[in-house]
Amino acid sequence: MQKLFIKTYGCQMNVYDSERIADTLSPMGFTLTENPDDADLAILNTCHIREKAEQKMYSDLGRLRDRRDERRQENEDMIIAVGGCVAQAEGAEIMRQAPYVDIVFGPQAYHRLPEMVARAKRAKDAKEGKIGRGVGVVDTDFPIESKFDTLPQTEVSRAAAFLTIQEGCDKFCTYCVVPYTRGAEFSRPVADVIEEAKHLARLGAKEITLLGQNVNAYHGLPPVGHSEWGLGRLIREIAEVEGIERIRYTTSHPSDMDQDLIDAHRDVPQLMPYLHLPVQAGSNRVLEAMNRKHTRESYLEILEKLRQARPDIALSSDFIVGFPGESEKDFEQTLDLVRQVRYAQAYSFKYSIRPGTPAGLMELQLPEDVKSDRLQQLQAVLNEHQLAFNQASVGKVMKVLMERKGRYDGQLTGRTPYMQSITIEGNERLLGQIVDVVIDSGHANGVRGSVRLVS
Ligand code: 5AD
Ligand code: SF4
Repeated sequence: MQKLFIKTYGCQMNVYDSERIADTLSPMGFTLTENPDDADLAILNTCHIREKAEQKMYSDLGRLRDRRDERRQENEDMIIAVGGCVAQAEGAEIMRQAPYVDIVFGPQAYHRLPEMVARAKRAKDAKEGKIGRGVGVVDTDFPIESKFDTLPQTEVSRAAAFLTIQEGCDKFCTYCVVPYTRGAEFSRPVADVIEEAKHLARLGAKEITLLGQNVNAYHGLPPVGHSEWGLGRLIREIAEVEGIERIRYTTSHPSDMDQDLIDAHRDVPQLMPYLHLPVQAGSNRVLEAMNRKHTRESYLEILEKLRQARPDIALSSDFIVGFPGESEKDFEQTLDLVRQVRYAQAYSFKYSIRPGTPAGLMELQLPEDVKSDRLQQLQAVLNEHQLAFNQASVGKVMKVLMERKGRYDGQLTGRTPYMQSITIEGNERLLGQIVDVVIDSGHANGVRGSVRLVS
């Protein structure tokens, strides 16, 4: 058996991709290892969305090279591969900065990995003895055939599973690399999605999170007829799949939040009362410069409709502070919007220039200390709201899907319907079960609870 190590950076779509990469390579005899020292093949599944993720990849690559050198002293070797969005955007640059990398492949090419690995092995055998150089297999094409059509189905059982239904983005927000790395928007046909949902349910999934860079722009070919299905309709269909008790979806764009999808939050009990709907900024001037295609007002209007449809819905968002030209007044409007919405959780970032994006060329790039200061201010408010939301849960009984063992013996962790991370003391046999839990305490990053005893 050969050992495969995969490190995943970035979003849940990469997590899904990494699992499918492992599925693709298992027929070649690769089994997963958590330890890169043992790896015959090490893959970094990278993220290009922000500068930090990219820097991390380069430092991890250096460490892998050292490990490979150690393995070579023991007459073993390691194929080093870089996949994902950095590979797509900077394939040539990776080969220049880290010439010891053997394989570079984009997010649309991982179904061709077995072939690439076989080629890398052959090339390595042929070039034996050349230290410090990779064998240079590069595949960053956007192919005609879809990777989804050629991938084997997963055999990995997970109580909370991911299912990618849509990829790519046509929105072109001016700060974002996704339209360049993941390419044009593409939706998988409804029948394929349903088949995969049934397969995941048979493997034991109780919750499915539908994934896409722009998941609510989903418009898939219908099982019969010609008029495409939107996400709302798809969710209603997935709710019919036996065994699927909880449905989530991420990430959504405000301008694709149509009425049918909003209604699904009212009508479909399996659809969890939580939505990640990034707003990015609270000032219309900045939103326009970001090419977000929504305003502060239109965003708030959508939230209003969502709250009418599902009054207890918990909201989450992404924020960028320090976008080029963002004034103190603009930033105040972001704080103001946050205070108005009161998010249950949120992700916030300092703007960072991404190569090839229009915002990178804008004047008035802000100094680092201004960005840091604003991020701190924003996070203080977001954290306060998150803590308040978690504390307001105390005393409630919630259905929790127990997903994995906790950090300490006897602990289990999972998610509440509102996406709060929750820890309980409980027997391992509860893993994979949906359990009634009383919330005992609320904290900065989640809640604690105990299994409700049936009286
Ligand atoms: N700088 C900072 N944050 C960014 N994001 C995307 N591109 C950038 C960038 N250039 C953030 C957005 C997006 C999240 C996934 O990453 O908030 O919603
Ligand atoms: Fe990037 Fe905007 Fe597309 Fe989201 S909607 S992936 S932020 S371009």
